[in-house]
This record gives sequence, C-alpha cells and structure tokens, in this order.
Amino acid sequence: MGHAGQRRIVWDQVQRRLWQPEGVPFGLVTRAINADPDVGAATMLLDVPPGWEMPGAGWNEADLELLVIDGDLEVAGLSGGRGLYAYLPAGTDLETIRSTAGAEVIFWHDAPFRVRTDAAGAPKTPRSHVTDVFDEANWVPVKEAFAGVTDTGSHDGLKVPTRCIRLRKVEETGLDSILFVMPKGFQKTSLEFHHSTEEIFFLEGMCSTDPDHVYVPGEYLCWEPGVIHGVVSGWDSVCISKHHGPLTSPNIPLGATSVDISD
Ligand SMILES: [Fe+2]
Repeated sequence: MGHAGQRRIVWDQVQRRLWQPEGVPFGLVTRAINADPDVGAATMLLDVPPGWEMPGAGWNEADLELLVIDGDLEVAGLSGGRGLYAYLPAGTDLETIRSTAGAEVIFWHDAPFRVRTDAAGAPKTPRSHVTDVFDEANWVPVKEAFAGVTDTGSHDGLKVPTRCIRLRKVEETGLDSILFVMPKGFQKTSLEFHHSTEEIFFLEGMCSTDPDHVYVPGEYLCWEPGVIHGVVSGWDSVCISKHHGPLTSPNIPLGATSVDISD
C-alpha cells in the first residue's frame, strides 16, 4: 500500500498524543504524520520532554531514522542538537536515550517499533549519522553526490545547482534519505516524477513544487509514485526527503500530464 499521498500537512496542526510503546518510559508525545500499515512503518514528530531518559540495553527490530530539529538529544552513543541526523538499522544498540532541555525530532521507523532487551542480531546495514545537516560544509552538489548511482538528468542545465547530503544511501538499502538544499534563485527547467513514494519535510527557506504550491518550514508533503511535479523552485530552501524505494527522478518535458511509471 505504501505511505499515503499528502499535498500538505502542517506539523503544528496535527494532534499531539502520548506515545508509550512497550518498554519505553512515559513522557513522549507524538504527532502522526504518515504511515504504511502494511509493513508497520510510520513517520512522526516526537516531542521529548526536558529531562526524559530511557536507560540503555535496548535495541529495535525496525530500521530507525531521526532528525533533531530543536533541543538536544542523546541516542545510540550520539549526542547533538538541531541538525543531528542518525540512521540506526535494526539491531543497533540504542544505549541511553535522553534529552536535557527537551527535543523536537522527526522520526521514522520502517517496521513495527518494538524495543527489545534480549541479544540483538548484528545490523544488516551500516549505521550512519551527520552531526549537523545544516552545516554547509556537509553539502555536496547533487550531480557529484549521485554520479554513477542514479540518473541525475533532471539536474542538467541548472543555473544554481542543488546541493545535498546522502544521509541513507540507495545502493545499500533502496530507501535513501537525502537532505536537499536549493539555493537562492533555484528553479528547475523540467517536470519530474519518482518511481517510489517520496516524503518531504520542509525545514528552512521557501520551496515551491509548482507555481500554485509554496512550502515553508513546518510543512510536509508526500508524493505517491508517478505524481508529476514541477517546475520545482526554491529560495534558500532546506528539506529532508525520504524515498521508499529506488531513487529515480526522470526528466520529463514541460506540459506532460501523465507518465507510465512502469517505464
Ligand atoms: Fe521530486
């Protein structure tokens, strides 16, 4: 079934609920953003209260990803503030999880979330993290970052190249997550679609997916496979995009109204 297509979700308009999965201490608050009930995956915002702590020795059956957008967080031996991203594959020792001042976190799990304390199998893919995704030193031009990995044709001829961080890599998992940065004056010259579902959280600046839809920080969208969008433009835009399948972004001409996604 996959994650549901969503034209726009404003995070702060989503109802907050207590979230207390088995084995997790009381105090977490969640905003449910999207889900794939068939596989038990979910996308959410998590509010971690100041002083919240979960003692170590737990691991999770699901691949987890998180991005701290406010406050501070310690998890799996990492610690950081706004901009800390981590990919923690199933089986990763989560160690002590805590926040001193509280935290707001974008959080994905790719299968049912279940903390276990028995012996964990070794993770099947390497974990990865970036201490500050907003630090320009970590940004690489898209055509460079994806050279030899996927078709970057839709980035041909851009006057101001998009930059990115490959946070979770496609050749390892097929479920890549990318930080995209669209600089001042960014505008594509073609339309595009994707063969897999793409979720996007808008974090900084302005981004439009077509002239009638402008996104600002605090908003989310989800493209189902085959949805044509464009011309994409941006102005100092920073967003995090998660693909639920192979990363492809075919270049299609202006004016196209349908595509065959089996191509
Ligand atoms: Fe796209």
